[in-house]
Amino acid sequence: MPLIECKDLVVRYGEIEALHGLTIAVEAGEVVTLLGGNGAGKSTTLRSISGLVKPVSGDILFEGQSILGAGPEDIVRRGIAHVPEGRRVFPGLSTRENIMLGASNRKGLTKAQIRAEADGMFDLFPDIRPFADALGWTLSGGQQQMVAVARGLMAKPKLLLLDEPSLGLAPVIVQKVFSIIAEIRKLGTTVLLVEQNARMGLSVADRGYVLETGRLVLSGKPADLWGNEDIRAAYLGGHARVKATLPAV
Ligand SMILES: Nc1ncnc2c1ncn2[C@@H]1O[C@H](COP(=O)(O)OP(=O)(O)OP(=O)(O)O)[C@@H](O)[C@H]1O
Ligand SMILES: [Mg+2]
Repeated sequence: MPLIECKDLVVRYGEIEALHGLTIAVEAGEVVTLLGGNGAGKSTTLRSISGLVKPVSGDILFEGQSILGAGPEDIVRRGIAHVPEGRRVFPGLSTRENIMLGASNRKGLTKAQIRAEADGMFDLFPDIRPFADALGWTLSGGQQQMVAVARGLMAKPKLLLLDEPSLGLAPVIVQKVFSIIAEIRKLGTTVLLVEQNARMGLSVADRGYVLETGRLVLSGKPADLWGNEDIRAAYLGGHARVKATLPAV
């Protein structure tokens, strides 16, 4: 049984149909990347899973049970954390306080325990350790992204949804964010990752799905998707004449 399954999802925003019957699944322990251009429906897929938008039809099964119609807070409690597009770091809270907020779904922890766990996150995100007491608004984009991912992990999710963690970051910071995703994968957390950068997105993935205007057009292992020049040229923004290889993770 997959950890999460979307079956024939149809999502509309008013007149616009953003998903036209999307079926995808992620097995426990996998990192799966959703690729596709602007408006393909990637964020809508994540928002549907986390209960922020209600599909008109189809079903979403988490651990074999339908979560369709469950509210976002209930879905977080069941073990799904969503790090949305845009970093949403609270400007007036410190880095540590922002990270601590991620544990709000976990009951029975003292503030001291949550604080200790938040500090433990700096092992995975050493770049932001020096800024533990700095206010959110003083952090760079890359630092804010690390805070957002750390906050997601504080929920101890069974499934982590990451929406374009590399957006707007300098290449060297993108590398760092992706090496953190590779670390998260090693820790065994299941991740559904949305990326427009196909090369980076596939470099950390077990499998990839490619969406185009609300439809699934391709799925497969990273090497198969990336290794096919026609696919690369058509969907992945790859340069068909350049023999690209996946970076080692
Ligand atoms: N709140 C909304 N109201 C109306 N239309 C929306 C809304 N959110 C998304 N859409 C539309 O739904 C479609 C899918 O959008 P979505 O945000 O899921 O795409 P995406 O693949 O995440 O794109 P991007 O890479 O630009 O983030 C687009 O046509 C978009 O314009
Ligand atoms: Mg999006």
